[in-house]
Amino acid sequence: MKKIMDGQHIYKSFDAEKERIKVLRDVSVIIYEGEFISVMGPSGSGKSTLLYALSGMDTIDSGEVIFNHQRLGACGETELSDIRRQQMGFVFQQPIFLNNLTIIDNIVLPAMRDNRKKVKELASKAQQLLEITGIGNLAYRMPNQASGGQLQRAGICRALINEPKIIFADEPTGALNSKAAEEIMGNFLKINQEGITIMLVTHDAKVAAQSERVLFMKDGQIIDELQLGKLSNQTVEERAERVTRKMLKVEM
Ligand SMILES: Nc1ncnc2c1ncn2[C@@H]1O[C@H](COP(=O)(O)OP(=O)(O)O)[C@@H](O)[C@H]1O
Ligand SMILES: [Mg+2]
Repeated sequence: MKKIMDGQHIYKSFDAEKERIKVLRDVSVIIYEGEFISVMGPSGSGKSTLLYALSGMDTIDSGEVIFNHQRLGACGETELSDIRRQQMGFVFQQPIFLNNLTIIDNIVLPAMRDNRKKVKELASKAQQLLEITGIGNLAYRMPNQASGGQLQRAGICRALINEPKIIFADEPTGALNSKAAEEIMGNFLKINQEGITIMLVTHDAKVAAQSERVLFMKDGQIIDELQLGKLSNQTVEERAERVTRKMLKVEM
């Protein structure tokens, strides 16, 4: 299997009022191409910080991150932002949209910066993504005319418009009801089947259960992992039970 992401001995701390808090303490993680990996752990355990470290959104104190043969630590700010924009996609808990632009324009606009494709081509790609995620009819609505779940699907379209190699998703279903969350997970599974690697942070055992491998974080370290394999014979419920059992075992 080919590695797409290789993080080794990552340390990261932040200055608090009186002391420095060590948020990542010697975290190493390898993600393979095409993998769907999830990260669980209590609030404050360092999940988001790890996602920022691996995606080059934030610097690290020491250690190394290699993405697609490139050492992120050796890249300048412009180079890093090019890598993020062209090869990575990001989905957050609350997608942020410009309220005075249609949903499709919100998807196309950030991609225009690279000028690799013509606007018309990008718009047709965006429309195609909206169809795939099941909201093709919402392209010309304004963001405030869509539900949270629909906007999150649009957020996924925006993350996919530049055809990234990897998607980082930080609690993408955290603000959604269970039906919308299920639809979003259906979308992630479809995207992953197309060969895009996914790293997803979640609190929800049922969400993590749909990934192939779950990392468990606690106090800034990866303390365990669970290899689930591809969704096939087992039901999501059976897998969620395995995730929960592991969580209890590692006392997260
Ligand atoms: N920019 C920051 N400045 C100071 N402290 C931070 C910053 N980002 C995160 N932290 C601290 O790092 C710890 C881990 O945060 P985070 O990675 O967001 O955890 P999680 O995503 O698992 O909830 C928390 O104690 C948080 O307060
Ligand atoms: Mg977080």
